[in-house]
Amino acid sequence: KAEIAIAIDGPAAAGKSTVAKITARKLNYIYVDTGAMYRALTLKSLNSEIDPDNEKALIELLTLTDIELIQGENNQHVLLDEYDVTHDIRSEQVTNNVSYVAQHPLIRKEMVKRQQKLAEKRGVVMDGRDIGTHVLPNAEVKIFLIATVEERARRRHEENLKKGFSSDLDTLKKEIEQRDLIDSKREASPLLKADDAIEIDTTSITIDEVAERILDEAYKVM
Ligand code: C5P
Repeated sequence: KAEIAIAIDGPAAAGKSTVAKITARKLNYIYVDTGAMYRALTLKSLNSEIDPDNEKALIELLTLTDIELIQGENNQHVLLDEYDVTHDIRSEQVTNNVSYVAQHPLIRKEMVKRQQKLAEKRGVVMDGRDIGTHVLPNAEVKIFLIATVEERARRRHEENLKKGFSSDLDTLKKEIEQRDLIDSKREASPLLKADDAIEIDTTSITIDEVAERILDEAYKVM
């Protein structure tokens, strides 16, 4: 079977990474979490006390930054300059700053270049906000996942509780809405459904059902 590229985009906490991981595992493909790359840069910029609005300082920082996504048995590890930041990049501080870092055109240009390189060999499932529109416009399968903000906040809330993190449903909902707003309104490659993407509303179907739908689409074009 021909190796293809699968692009999965959508708003925050729509289940993209969970579904992308399942799909990649079933096809024995690599999974690329592009959000993790923006998060890693955000973490480094916070540690270096760089203002998330300072594009020039950020691009200089990114030039000196090595971000690696390592495929583990069950999950992916994110290495920032060889240091494992898999957990640190999920902190509330990173989550609430990442959309400001990600809105700069120069940052996006460099990240897209790195992401395209990771997808060169095909056999890839990539998730993010601009994969179908900018990173992999020729992806054989493009998916746009959506769900109501209430459902997305509820899922993230349960995930947090399960991990033993403190969590407030209302705060989560506000944070998700705020992030979606910035991601959708920015000038450089905003969150947008590609014309040829298949939209799947995950509000009332299970993760496994979503993965099945995507695999069906993949098998059609292989
Ligand atoms: O997917 P995740 O929620 O981890 O992404 C974090 C943030 O990174 C998004 O809210 C968005 O601001 C940015 N991002 C982006 N383009 C991508 C992936 C993520 O702008 N392809």
